Amino acid sequence: MEQLAASVRARAVALMEQVLRGGAPLAAEYPLVLDPRFPGRVLAIEERGVVVSACAALVRDFVVGQHTVRAGLIGSVVTHPEHRGRGLATELLLRAERALAQDGAWLALLWADDPLFYDERGWRPVGCELDFVLESWQEGRLAGASGIRAAAPDDWGAIHRLYTRQRERVDRSIDETRALLAGPGIETLVIQRERDVVAYSCLGRGGDFARTIHEWSGADQDVLALVRAHMQRAKARGASGPTYLLTPPTARTLHERLRGCGLTCADGVLAQGKLLDPQAACALLAALAGPQAVVSIETLVESAESRPHIVLRGPAGESILPENDLLDVLLPARGRRTRVEALARETGLALDALPLPLFAWGLDSI
Ligand SMILES: CC(C)(COP(=O)(O)OP(=O)(O)OC[C@H]1O[C@@H](n2cnc3c(N)ncnc32)[C@H](O)[C@@H]1OP(=O)(O)O)[C@@H](O)C(=O)NCCC(=O)NCCS
Repeated sequence: MEQLAASVRARAVALMEQVLRGGAPLAAEYPLVLDPRFPGRVLAIEERGVVVSACAALVRDFVVGQHTVRAGLIGSVVTHPEHRGRGLATELLLRAERALAQDGAWLALLWADDPLFYDERGWRPVGCELDFVLESWQEGRLAGASGIRAAAPDDWGAIHRLYTRQRERVDRSIDETRALLAGPGIETLVIQRERDVVAYSCLGRGGDFARTIHEWSGADQDVLALVRAHMQRAKARGASGPTYLLTPPTARTLHERLRGCGLTCADGVLAQGKLLDPQAACALLAALAGPQAVVSIETLVESAESRPHIVLRGPAGESILPENDLLDVLLPARGRRTRVEALARETGLALDALPLPLFAWGLDSI
């Protein structure tokens, strides 16, 4: 992805800070896109020396079980208040999507407070997370543990190792983990046993994830003890209201324990997504559908309009879906398997590896 000249980049970041943080600094919150040491990029539209619209973009390789899939993240989309409604953000989003696709991303993801703007530009809810809500009076339902303390920079290497044990994650370097953990407003706790840090958890992150534990790793009982410790610390600070725990759909044993404690969860959407490269998505579909599957893109004429469709063939027959519906099969919102099951019935393929349990931890979002 092309780098902006340093002065344009600085003005683009200043616009993001003005619009999103009332002028307060943003770089420490999003080091992977705003610190030039890391791979993220800032994109901008400039008119007569003024940056009028800007956004950030970051290519990430997501580890999903045995697969690694490349997706692009977009964030901090802003237009100068005096230049809104002229199509600038729409144009910049398209540029960001093209740049990410050129860098090999088949999918773009973003997290927006208000999804409507993106819905109207072809983005849709994708993926799944299970969000547990813990009311403050429920803290006693979780068992505690000894050895819990606030993390220090010395722990960041151990925390990174625990992060890389997650089956679903981003291929993140240790320097990236360090920079992310150093961000503002993150309460990171660890459990230390003898010399080893065996579990960690992060609550809050800058202006995001208020009262939310968004990243953790370790044995289930240790993670729950950390959740309890975050809740106790919140109470000691005088904070009221529930604590939220974000979990990937594959953390099934942790989910069982939480449900066993009488805690309830909601199926959440992971992000908003947009398909960037249908051919790469088809190759992924073929890899996930197994050796009996044959996948092709074919142009079908529908009421005088020709549109690309995906044809999936298996032992029992074939199934055709519009290219735009690929995400509903690969990464459906809330992990719903309705489309996958219909495809499996029509083709005779097992399709057990679908949907793809791609997951982004809190520090991975931009
Ligand atoms: C959202 C934002 C980036 C749009 O920038 P923009 O350059 O004006 O966008 P465009 O000109 O391409 O599109 C404008 C259209 O989007 C609509 N729009 C703007 N914000 C919207 C929202 N939150 N929901 C739905 N539609 C929205 C406008 O009403 C306008 O519609 P119209 O074309 O029918 O008149 C800009 O309003 C902004 O900076 N907002 C504050 C920061 C923000 O919320 N960023 C997104 C978080 S990642």
